[in-house]
Amino acid sequence: MQTPSNAPVTDTCPTLRREGDSVLILDQTRLPHEEAFVRLATLADAALAIRSMQVRGAPLIGATAAYGVALALASDASDAALADADACLRTTRPTAVNLHWALDRMGRKLASVAPAGRREAAWGEADAIRREDADANAAIGQHGLALLNALAAEPGRPVHVLTHCNAGWLATCGHGTALAPVYAARAAGLPVHVWVSETRPRNQGLLTAWELRRDGIPHTLVADNAAAWLMAEGRVDCVIVGADRIAANGDTANKVGTCLKALAARAHALPFYVAAPLSTVDRSCPNGRAIPIEARDGDEIRRIGGLDDNGRPAFVHIAPPDSPVCNPAFDVTPAALIDGIVTPVGVCAAHDIGRLAGSLSGDSP
Ligand code: MRU
Repeated sequence: MQTPSNAPVTDTCPTLRREGDSVLILDQTRLPHEEAFVRLATLADAALAIRSMQVRGAPLIGATAAYGVALALASDASDAALADADACLRTTRPTAVNLHWALDRMGRKLASVAPAGRREAAWGEADAIRREDADANAAIGQHGLALLNALAAEPGRPVHVLTHCNAGWLATCGHGTALAPVYAARAAGLPVHVWVSETRPRNQGLLTAWELRRDGIPHTLVADNAAAWLMAEGRVDCVIVGADRIAANGDTANKVGTCLKALAARAHALPFYVAAPLSTVDRSCPNGRAIPIEARDGDEIRRIGGLDDNGRPAFVHIAPPDSPVCNPAFDVTPAALIDGIVTPVGVCAAHDIGRLAGSLSGDSP
């Protein structure tokens, strides 16, 4: 992210920004073709933004939900309104646990505040969640940078990182999770190149390519199926991905296709890292089988979107409309395939993540 060097990233985060009593978001459904901002002024706006994936990525979903609570309380700060806002936002998307983490935190904070003071308290807590996520991203970046430094074979040769989906600044309130080490490497003068996996069916890899291009980071977009071949050719040094929910035993849900990358990395003896804030760890899920996996509309597989010859957004059908389709949005990578989880407090063995999160439990991401 290009920010003035003396400005805290939280003040310049272009993905989600508070403006008085409303919130401005970058509409990710229009990227990479159009950079358009949308104003969220009501609870319904916030819920729709999450559900329609105008905002996406686990930490950003959590922050948006927190602001959704603040927006809801603008007109009614009663216990009933608070409960309604929580119920409305909690069902917007099922897998990213940061949504539940943020709503739990808002609920705990506001339960101890009388209705007259709730509005202010809600904005304050949502601002804190956004700020702390940016700080967590910065710390993840530094711990991930140490891993990239260790992989740098010879001076001047870039470290080749493969990533899947988008876990950059578009998906968080700061520099991202999986991409935070890449931004830290650039800032430290370590040459880095990113293989960007396309991420069918919603093509979040295009968001990553857009983000990296905007920030001048060398990258190459590849079809999802190219990853194993690139690894076999010795053109990948490590894989870093984000996470939507990490179970207590380290099993990790992330965008569908992540597990295939982990399997290919293990087959080629390449390190596979997950980068995430502690708000993504769900200690109430003992293992990956307990993580709810979002099932999405089959048309995401049957159709593909882009610009038509006149430069207008359009979908084309690539399968018959009645083609049977299964569209899980996430998969689970077993802890045994993960070489480390890069957290804001250091790199942790996957099987230790539940213990680490427990020992630090509180509200800090
Ligand atoms: O369906 P999405 O686009 O919200 O899924 C996002 C991912 O899977 C990301 O990799 C994950 O949330 C980490 S974001 C820092």
